[in-house]
Amino acid sequence: MEVKTKSLLDNMIGVGDMVLLEPLSEDSFIENLRKRFDHNEIYTYIGSVVISMNPYKSMLIYSPEKVEEYRNRNFYELSPHIYALADEAYRSLRDQDKDQCILITGESGAGKTEASKLVMSYVAAVCGKGQEVNKVKEQLLQSNPVLEAFGNAKTVRNDNSSRFGKYMDIEFDFKGDPLGGVISNYLLEKSRVVKQPRGERNFHIFYQLLSGASDDTLKKLKLDRDFSKYNYLSLDSAVVNGLDDATSFRTVRNAMQIVGFMEDEVQSVLELVAAVLKLGNIEFKPESRCNGTDESRVKDKNDLKEMCELLGIEQSVLERAFSYRTVEAKLEKVSTTLNVAQAYYARDALAKNLYSRLFSWIVTRINESIKAQAKTRHKVMGVLDIYGFEIFDDNSFEQFIINYCNEKLQQIFIELTLREEQEEYIREDIEWTNIEYFNNAIICDLIENHQNGILAMLDEECLRPGTVTDETFLDKLNTICAQHQHFESRLSKNSKFLTDHSLPHSCFRIQHYAGKVLYRVEGFVDKNNDLLYRDLSQAMYKANHSLIKHLFPEGNPAKVNLKRPPTAGFQFKASVGTLMRNLQTKNPNYIRCIKPNDKKAPHIFTESLVCHQVRYLGLMENVRVRRAGYAFRQAYEPCLERYKMLCKRTWPHWRGPAREGVEMLMADLQVPAEEFSYGRSKIFIRNPRTLFFLEERRRQCLQDLATLIQKIYRGWKCRTHFLLLKKSQIVVAAWYRRYAQEKKYQKIKRATTVVQSYTRGWQARKLLRELKHQKRCKEAVTTIAAYWHGTQVRREYRKFFRANAGKKIYNFTIQRIMQKYFLGLKSTLPSMSPIDKNWPVRPYIFLDGVHTELRRIFHLWRCKKYRSRFTEEKKAVYEEKLEASELFKDKKALYPSSVSQPFKGDYLEISKNPKYQKLNSSVDEKVLLADVVNKINRANGKGATRILLLTKKNVVLADQKTGQVKASVALPDLTSVSVSTQNDGFFALRLKEGSASAVKGDFLLSSEHLIETITKLHHIGSAASDGEQLNVDIADEFLVQFKQDKVCVKFIQGAPKNGNGASCKRKNNRLLEVSVPASA
Ligand SMILES: Nc1ncnc2c1ncn2[C@@H]1O[C@H](COP(=O)(O)OP(=O)(O)OP(=O)(O)O)[C@@H](O)[C@H]1O
Ligand SMILES: [Mg+2]
Repeated sequence: MEVKTKSLLDNMIGVGDMVLLEPLSEDSFIENLRKRFDHNEIYTYIGSVVISMNPYKSMLIYSPEKVEEYRNRNFYELSPHIYALADEAYRSLRDQDKDQCILITGESGAGKTEASKLVMSYVAAVCGKGQEVNKVKEQLLQSNPVLEAFGNAKTVRNDNSSRFGKYMDIEFDFKGDPLGGVISNYLLEKSRVVKQPRGERNFHIFYQLLSGASDDTLKKLKLDRDFSKYNYLSLDSAVVNGLDDATSFRTVRNAMQIVGFMEDEVQSVLELVAAVLKLGNIEFKPESRCNGTDESRVKDKNDLKEMCELLGIEQSVLERAFSYRTVEAKLEKVSTTLNVAQAYYARDALAKNLYSRLFSWIVTRINESIKAQAKTRHKVMGVLDIYGFEIFDDNSFEQFIINYCNEKLQQIFIELTLREEQEEYIREDIEWTNIEYFNNAIICDLIENHQNGILAMLDEECLRPGTVTDETFLDKLNTICAQHQHFESRLSKNSKFLTDHSLPHSCFRIQHYAGKVLYRVEGFVDKNNDLLYRDLSQAMYKANHSLIKHLFPEGNPAKVNLKRPPTAGFQFKASVGTLMRNLQTKNPNYIRCIKPNDKKAPHIFTESLVCHQVRYLGLMENVRVRRAGYAFRQAYEPCLERYKMLCKRTWPHWRGPAREGVEMLMADLQVPAEEFSYGRSKIFIRNPRTLFFLEERRRQCLQDLATLIQKIYRGWKCRTHFLLLKKSQIVVAAWYRRYAQEKKYQKIKRATTVVQSYTRGWQARKLLRELKHQKRCKEAVTTIAAYWHGTQVRREYRKFFRANAGKKIYNFTIQRIMQKYFLGLKSTLPSMSPIDKNWPVRPYIFLDGVHTELRRIFHLWRCKKYRSRFTEEKKAVYEEKLEASELFKDKKALYPSSVSQPFKGDYLEISKNPKYQKLNSSVDEKVLLADVVNKINRANGKGATRILLLTKKNVVLADQKTGQVKASVALPDLTSVSVSTQNDGFFALRLKEGSASAVKGDFLLSSEHLIETITKLHHIGSAASDGEQLNVDIADEFLVQFKQDKVCVKFIQGAPKNGNGASCKRKNNRLLEVSVPASA
């Protein structure tokens, strides 16, 4: 187990736990509080009770880091904090399955509400997380702003004073995750709705609504932003420093949404708030009746009308309810008129009831939302934030009720604290000594006793027939309670107070545990009765507004109940009783809030004020009770861990059980036996001085230990440093020596190499000289021997050599040359193109024949290769081209330009073109050539376009537009074709005389594809079976037969014209001149 040695005793300012205060007196108690407060230590313990001083400034001690710091730590481990209490309560709830309650008490403005919020936020931060859990947490936390808006108000003591008591049960599952909660509210101070003391305000929501709602909302609610327009809003302190009502309104609306209010519910709530404001503005005037009495009438009906519209109430019904009152007694109904005062009373009673019922409805509605869903057993943590003890100059019924509640709380505090203390002693097996303390049960009895308690008497008085006034009530008190030692009254028979002028006649005084309080009886009876005329509740019930109807169920005429409703005092007593019973079943945790000054200012510590609170909160008694037995207790393990250095036997480790270690320690320190007791798990120390003695010894010991540790540490540090230096020095020296030796060695090595190289060079040169000499000698000997052998051989073979050597050398040489020639030729062969004229140069004259022959063979071979690549069609085309060349080459100037043009034949695409379909079908043969030609008019030489078709048997001329055949000449009728030598496309088809086609004479035509046309004509002729060839005449002048005339066609060279075409002109009967533009 990890034993933590931290403690609240560390760095303490004053003492963190008042139980340790030495000497214990009221002065030292307050001085300790002051000292801690001055050092911003606002929390101090009395054992497990937390005293909280209101700092009136924001403190940096509520950060998430602080939450982490206090999380899962023991209560006394860290300096006092509200988080320590919250953590302790939460952990006991979670781990030990004990229901908890956190009782926060203190007077108004002491910080109870803030403390309750801190506890809730701490628990929210440390408990489980998850979407569902977070939603529950958020709803629980957000219920605060809603309740504060409707239930808090600015008072002279506190700008955000809770005007209701609140007890909230937060429910957790077995893991410690929140499941939901239940809020109980106690006695809202509803008189505030209609009247506020000087310097105070009405409930926050009124101001928030008027400041923060949008213009639109205000218009809907028939409200005006100006506070001064409303009688119920006091003006002198409508604006509070540090409170931004507009922003708060948005916060509240947002919180209502989170808590689960529907939009229409929020609207209804605001309508009711507006209605209360409107109600306050309704005023009455007296109207005299014939019987002399005054009857009240509503003065200005506008506000009444608006209020009725808001709540859906019939105006006349409400108006009547303000003027008449119906009293039902058994079967009789009596209607009496209300005077103006009664009407105002009725109005205010309605406003108070409306508001307080609305508030209770809001609490119920929040409860519906935050109700735990799971039905499983759950653990509960209750947080009680109830109004503190109130002593004003003028104390009324509310203060009486509030102070009664505080009496009850004090009682439970005494009971539970003592009980807990007692239980611990029994648990730890320590002897229990009885402790004297003031028990306020007697005061509680004075107030709540069923027979003669003040509340019982008040109820009795209220229910009594006959005239009942506050005075009759006081009389009754005087007679019955006069003997009670805590009751004081001027009129009581107890003569002690007859001359006490501080006690007015209309008042009584109670000696509460927290001091004497003077109560003015005025209003007690009324407030206790809390009467709302039935006519009003019935008017409300009739409203066409679901919420209002719901709030006034007694107005239902079907359920008329003649029994009086329970009085306010009775109800409160009952609910306080329930609360007390509830608290008694839980483990209590106390936060006692103290207000340091009356100015709501930081840093001010008003001693008298604090002293008063310390007294009435019974804090001194609390300390005494705590110290009556043993002032301090601590479990053995942390105790041993903290003080083990005080004894050599336990330091540094104690191996045995912790209790024996502690016993050893106490024996060794010679602490007197009466100063402590050994419990089962804890040691109990009787006097704080013993603890301080231990602490002092520990402090000294820690100092010695610190010196020792410091000494050893310093020695260790210096030694380590020295050793490090020494080690470094050795390393540095080693490196340096190595470096110096290396340098020296390098120098010697370099010198040796130089000497060595010189010696080796000299030796090598010497050897080289010798070898060279030997080589020369060898060569000389070989040469001499060769010459000598040569001479010998030549001398011997001369006679054979001369006869055969020449032929052999010749053949060999020729062979070499041929070989070289063929190899050379192979690499220089020309390209495979048949028209390539290149051929390598012949190298030797004697190879002339071979060279030429090889060229011829190569040419034939490549021609053969070239031909073998030809298809039949390509061959035909080339044959035609060849024929054209034979016919026209060097004879007609037009020829060269035709060489590059392919012979296409069908230029008109006659078979495909639908335009010529008719013409094509009329020809009935394969068309070899189809082209557009120009037919020269025989009479005037002008041209007309025609289609020329050439088949194997005919030449056909047809009209270009219509496709009609104009002339068809059978090829055998054609004798020759004449063309010029020039660059023109004219040609004459000369016909056989007497043939059928020759009736009109020869044709003179001009074509773009002259060369192709004539070649094709010639080719057909030569291919025909009769073998009669068509003559092609090429001359610049020739005769043609036009009908009977022979006309000479003459081609002359003309100047270049626009366009390049030749022009034709009939000069006379005998001459037709064709002018061919000179070619460029
Ligand atoms: N822990 C705190 N830190 C800072 N300011 C605080 C703290 N506790 C209280 N205050 C200040 O004191 C004011 C009053 O505190 P709070 O409303 O909690 O008093 P109360 O005891 O609930 O009074 P009442 O009985 O009138 O409701 C707070 O509005 C806040 O300004
Ligand atoms: Mg409060």
